[in-house]
Amino acid sequence: MTPQERIRELTAQLTYYNHQYYQDSVSEVDDFTFDQLLQELTDLEKQYPDFRLPDSPTARVGGTISKEFPTVYHRFPMLSLGNTYSEEDLIEFDTRVRKGLRDEPYEYICELKFDGVALSMTYENGVLVQGATRGDGVRGDDITHNIRTIRSLPLRISPGKGHISVPALFEVRGEGFLPLAEFDRINKEREDIGEPLLANPRNAASGTFKQQDSGAVAQRRLDCYLYSFLADPDPSGEAIFHTHEESLIALREWGFNVSPTWKKCTTIREVMEYINEWDTKRFELPLGTDGIVIKVNRYDQQRELGYTAKSPRWAIAFKYKAQAASTTLNAIQYQVGRTGAVTPVAMLTPVLLAGTIVKRASLHNANEIERLGVMLHDTVFVEKGGEIIPKVTSVDLSRRPADAQPIVYPTECPACGTPLIRKEGEAHFYCPNEKYCPPQRQARFEHFIQRRAMNIESLGEGKIQLLIDRNLVLNPADLYDLTNGQLLGLEKTYTDEDTGKTRTVKFGQKTVDNILTAIERSKAQPFSNVLFALGIRYVGNTTAEKLVDYFGSMDALMVANREQLLAVPDTGPRIADSLLEWFADADNVQQVERLRAADLQFVGTRKEVVAEGNTLAGKTFLYTGTFAGFDREELEAKIAANGGKLLSGVSKKLNYLIVGENAGPSKVAKAQQLNVPMINESEFRSMLGDTEHS
Ligand code: IVH
Repeated sequence: MTPQERIRELTAQLTYYNHQYYQDSVSEVDDFTFDQLLQELTDLEKQYPDFRLPDSPTARVGGTISKEFPTVYHRFPMLSLGNTYSEEDLIEFDTRVRKGLRDEPYEYICELKFDGVALSMTYENGVLVQGATRGDGVRGDDITHNIRTIRSLPLRISPGKGHISVPALFEVRGEGFLPLAEFDRINKEREDIGEPLLANPRNAASGTFKQQDSGAVAQRRLDCYLYSFLADPDPSGEAIFHTHEESLIALREWGFNVSPTWKKCTTIREVMEYINEWDTKRFELPLGTDGIVIKVNRYDQQRELGYTAKSPRWAIAFKYKAQAASTTLNAIQYQVGRTGAVTPVAMLTPVLLAGTIVKRASLHNANEIERLGVMLHDTVFVEKGGEIIPKVTSVDLSRRPADAQPIVYPTECPACGTPLIRKEGEAHFYCPNEKYCPPQRQARFEHFIQRRAMNIESLGEGKIQLLIDRNLVLNPADLYDLTNGQLLGLEKTYTDEDTGKTRTVKFGQKTVDNILTAIERSKAQPFSNVLFALGIRYVGNTTAEKLVDYFGSMDALMVANREQLLAVPDTGPRIADSLLEWFADADNVQQVERLRAADLQFVGTRKEVVAEGNTLAGKTFLYTGTFAGFDREELEAKIAANGGKLLSGVSKKLNYLIVGENAGPSKVAKAQQLNVPMINESEFRSMLGDTEHS
């Protein structure tokens, strides 16, 4: 097979697997095989760039860097929708439609109004050739490379798919979004490494689509719901679809991600029912929604109704009322986080909002206070958006009291008095007293004991605070010197700010035993957890794992220079400099040495595989029993060194079970049941091409 043929074959095969996975949630191949095929294609395309196909699935992983986005004109303008907020408005809309259609029967399609970024995709001969933002409606940015990273969006539609053939040229429009779960994942990761949090999923999606590096875009799993189809009539003048409903069904058949939440309604009553049904159900969806969109179903009727200057007369958006309440701002509390960032929090007169009592709301940062023009004792509006913490959205100036006080942002840390600093380009003020500022210290301990780090969670819920208050611990290394005598009988009473209730933390023998056992057990936590636990800025879980894979030990990491750090996969200058700075601090090094003396894991398994060959590429293995020529580690290393992958259990994904002496009967039985081939040691050797032993 020529390289060109192989490129064609791999492109088709991977496109098929992608579609299966993202549209039908099934897969014929395991992730490993998929990655191997993708790698093969990537390598071939690099070698023979001319043969790369425009719909190559390698586009999903990004990699293109654009200086700026070219402007593209939309073949059909991207309009906006008129808004309504009440049932009366909706009835008026319905009346206008009825009159416009001279009492002819009509139907509506109701859809949710997704809160993301409007995107327009052009397909030529079934291939995605262009993706653009809305821009001003007439022209937008060509962000094709970024749009190709959306895994649910077909890069090519196979001809003959669906019961309506795919037109030679068409556009689809939809809403690009960052799924809420993905938004939370990214923010959790950013919190771990001390980066400012993304404000909300909508802005995060819009920011991501406009990033210049499509590789970075691909790391955030964007998605897109399609809701419009546009094409010229076919050469005979016949329209491809006659109704919006037909287009939604066909789009789905062609492999597009159409949210199944749409519904056909014949009366405005039914539309109201749809609105009421989704008022609460919409919070279960994977993205934010702020209303519904009502569209006249038949295209000929849409044409008859026509357009105003800005929007169609055949469609309208009904906006759900934001869940807002007004209350007074009594004070501002300044909270200091683990990285020293100071966040202003509005302390409010308690108010009922969407079923819960709200006493606090986020004000984000100093810029936000300025933007809102808010003063102490003002009446403010608070809203619940996509985020969990309510936020102050505006000020009711008509109710500003005579005693309203300007908000003076502190110049010193509210917790330790150190002058605050503002880093260039950042919205937050920071307390630079990293080591001694009490809330920073407390947050550092909380980071250290969390499950994903040292897993000493029996110290949670105020217990760690008690240890800090009593000066029993200054930095996390001190935890390993704690004794039964120091802990037993400790007691403190706290007042819960929310409920006003008091709570007593008391260390009885059982509590102390639990704490000391958890501390002892934490010594077995893997080195990557230890590295993450140290709380080095920008070193999250994943980065810690990559550093361990690369350096293998704390000693190697501590002496690494900038160049070596930059050689670690996915490690850029920001992480490298942060590590260098951290290890250059004598106190930090001393802490590390104490942790070493306490017997924490400072060595990990270097995953850097010395490649021997590729004979096991794409194959998965599991072994059971003992072998004459290998111990466990040697066998595992052999599999990895020859391109194979080790699985943790017998499943359909397993290609070979290597059976040795005293093999586990349950593994063998399961392999038989699933028809997984079993091989012995010498058969495994011959797979390696090793004839010496067989
Ligand atoms: S149809 C001619 N359907 O709302 C109007 N738009 O103000 C075509 N949107 O920028 C739009 N969900 O990004 C339509 N189910 C949906 C939608 C939707 C969200 C957005 C769209 C557009 C804005 C219109």
